[in-house]
Amino acid sequence: MDINKKKVPAHVAIIMDGNGRWAKERGLERVYGHANGVASVRKAIKASLDMGVKVLTLYAFSQENWNRPAAEVEALMLLMVSNMKQELPSFIEQGVRFRYIGNRAALSDEVREEFDYCERQTAHCERLTLVIAVSYSAREELAMAAQKIARRAVEGEIRVEDIDVDMMEENLYAGDLPAVDLMIRTSGEIRISNFLLWQVAYAEFYFTDLYWPDFDEKEYEKAVEYYGRRERRFGKTSEQIKLENSINQE
Ligand code: FPP
Repeated sequence: MDINKKKVPAHVAIIMDGNGRWAKERGLERVYGHANGVASVRKAIKASLDMGVKVLTLYAFSQENWNRPAAEVEALMLLMVSNMKQELPSFIEQGVRFRYIGNRAALSDEVREEFDYCERQTAHCERLTLVIAVSYSAREELAMAAQKIARRAVEGEIRVEDIDVDMMEENLYAGDLPAVDLMIRTSGEIRISNFLLWQVAYAEFYFTDLYWPDFDEKEYEKAVEYYGRRERRFGKTSEQIKLENSINQE
């Protein structure tokens, strides 16, 4: 597919949905869906590197997912830890920086220590930042940011009037990362499910009926190509955007 390199999103976020249904349709346990979903994670990382995406954020485990059967939660955590162990050398080799966002305190020591280790080992990598959202809730992320800011106000470090959009952003889990340009959700569900509510303020959305284990490089390129055709106006008129683009091309 002909991807216009100038119109590749800097930050892609993906809600990887449909693993359970994928497995059920094959008469398999749900965990097989997750295990097959890992192959799609690898494909998404490779395609991000190939296309020049700079940040890829994957919704691996929501805070609400703790309510799933204990065996499924356990299997998911094991999958994440074992795959991180396995992939670490190739991340370093390919320039993939690993980070994770969410409620770190809710994770087991084993998961947290492995993720912290991967963060440290890849801190120097610069080609792609891979962000895994685990035990993540966007509403909690915003409440935590509000708490941190309020604490500073109470302690007299800042005035209430100093609180602005930039300060909110700095206090998110990964406030240094750019806003999401393209949000993808698989499995035919058209909802955001408490994912990156702040960061998607001006994102383009791409929905596909494919279940996550069936999501491959081709479908990812389709989403990026769709993104390239969108006119992003950020509140301006179409005429203003066209004028700006013609000036930029000169
Ligand atoms: C949603 O499908 C998927 C998840 C809750 C888990 C996604 C996690 C992975 C693919 C593993 C990630 C691994 C690494 C290394 C990052 P669902 O179970 O909600 O599907 P359903 O809606 O069909 O039931």
